[in-house]
Amino acid sequence: MDGNGRWAQERNLRRHKGHIEGCETVKKIVNSAHNKEIAYLTLFAFSSENWKRPGFEVRFLMQLLERYLVDYGEELHQKNICLKTIGQIEAFPRAVQKNLKILKEKTQNNTGLILTFALNFGGRQEIFNAVKKLIKGIGLSQKFEDELNSKDFESFLESSYLPDMDLMIRTSGEQRLSNFLLWKMAYTELYFSPKYWPDFSENDFIEAIHWYQTRQRKFGGLDLKSTNPSPTKL
Ligand code: IPE
Ligand code: MG
Repeated sequence: MDGNGRWAQERNLRRHKGHIEGCETVKKIVNSAHNKEIAYLTLFAFSSENWKRPGFEVRFLMQLLERYLVDYGEELHQKNICLKTIGQIEAFPRAVQKNLKILKEKTQNNTGLILTFALNFGGRQEIFNAVKKLIKGIGLSQKFEDELNSKDFESFLESSYLPDMDLMIRTSGEQRLSNFLLWKMAYTELYFSPKYWPDFSENDFIEAIHWYQTRQRKFGGLDLKSTNPSPTKL
């Protein structure tokens, strides 16, 4: 979710106004994902690199998250949405952690949309932490080398409950992954929208999904319906 600051700056507003407007977009897109019966939606709300921002902006983002949880928690629950987080939320203010805990517990048995907020999350850190957990759990033994497969490894990732990511949408015209769910993104279709996140509408979201539906996903193989795979002479 990128472009809140530029959205505000272009309107001669302070950056926090962009974050407030961005939060409105979160509500719209979560609703839309719910209505479209999408199984998983993961929102990159705060990266492990976002701490580099001025303290007042970081504090504002935390407050906004807390307010969202307090104001919309019940609605998420009513919609049968299951809230989860990935990332080191221990670094967040206690009040935010408490609200997250309450809402995650309340919605844990919900069977609708799995809504994940990536908070203080970094894709590299996730992989590195998984390696550390794995070494701690199994130890670097011969067994480790001989018997470990990538599925075992994945189970140590914080995002292990998520399937591989089908579609990543990045707004504001930037074309980077910015340390998002790197492991899950090996074969993700990447969609870049020029719109700033506060301007990103439900229609834009649907358009991105329609674009995704036109993609041929081959996962490194061949699409046998459209290709003649017989050997050819050079
Ligand atoms: C995304 O918008 C919001 C968060 C990182 C929480 P930005 O704040 O990155 O907006 P720009 O990139 O400055 O426009
Ligand atoms: Mg940005």
